[in-house]
Amino acid sequence: MLNAVGQAQHILLLGGTSEIGLGIVEEFLDRGPAKVTLAARPGSQHLEAARAQLAHKGADVEVIEFDATDFDSHPAVIDAAFARGDVDVAIVSFGTLGDQEQLWQDQAKAVASAQVNYTAPVSVGVLLGQRLKAQGHGTIVALSSVAGMRVRRSNFVYGASKAGLDGFYVNLGEALRGDGVNVLVVRPGQVRTRMSAEAGDAPLTVNVSDVAKDTVQAVLDDKQAIFVHPLFKYVSLAFKFIPQTVFRKLPF
Ligand SMILES: NC(=O)c1ccc[n+]([C@@H]2O[C@H](COP(=O)([O-])OP(=O)(O)OC[C@H]3O[C@@H](n4cnc5c(N)ncnc54)[C@H](OP(=O)(O)O)[C@@H]3O)[C@@H](O)[C@H]2O)c1
Repeated sequence: MLNAVGQAQHILLLGGTSEIGLGIVEEFLDRGPAKVTLAARPGSQHLEAARAQLAHKGADVEVIEFDATDFDSHPAVIDAAFARGDVDVAIVSFGTLGDQEQLWQDQAKAVASAQVNYTAPVSVGVLLGQRLKAQGHGTIVALSSVAGMRVRRSNFVYGASKAGLDGFYVNLGEALRGDGVNVLVVRPGQVRTRMSAEAGDAPLTVNVSDVAKDTVQAVLDDKQAIFVHPLFKYVSLAFKFIPQTVFRKLPF
């Protein structure tokens, strides 16, 4: 169970090499050592570095195989994680961006994107919800995006999946109210990681450490959703009311 200063006993990171996910885990480890289970693709070129990064911070790290689009394997993945004991914080931080202009014109690639960015988060979300409900405590952190708040032409295949993920996790939190479980939806704008490396900085771009700090504080405060950068709360609200004829003229 998380103690008052945010020390966790067991953290599960789905997307075990995600730069944002690892940053959040490190921020927890700064508050005290923990068991960390990395659910990751065994072939990931970033896996050994991820394991070393957390071991260096004093974590007791174990890796379990996780392929986000192998849906039938997900119950066994979640069982393997919980076999190490109750999970205090489960972070859903996998996903792909991809070439957005290619995605909306290529059926197979669009389906693959939707599966990893929407269907897979739903699949693990259902399983995590049931396990945390049964243990009676814990927090699910789901990485959404400002891209899902008002889906825009420039990245609508990705953005539409994020909109779906966001709606699912907000309401998973509602469904679990009263069961001792909190669901936190984290909505960054652009974050400086591998995923966004080719895009160049957009307005209000933040670092992994900004997302990590705000996320851990929000977990401790039992919040249901946050924006990182915080100004996106107001920007996203304003975007909701802009007519499409005007929205399409905005330069992003
Ligand atoms: N970076 C941003 O600007 C930004 C902004 C808003 C929201 N987000 C969201 O934050 C989350 C983390 O992003 P990040 O920036 O940390 O990106 P990242 O470092 O590229 O991490 C992406 C993670 O997804 C995993 N993954 C991709 N496909 C998978 C599959 N089929 N099965 C299992 N794992 C798979 C990758 O594993 P491999 O190592 O095997 O590839 C990696 O662990 C994502 O959901 C992203 O959409 C990112």
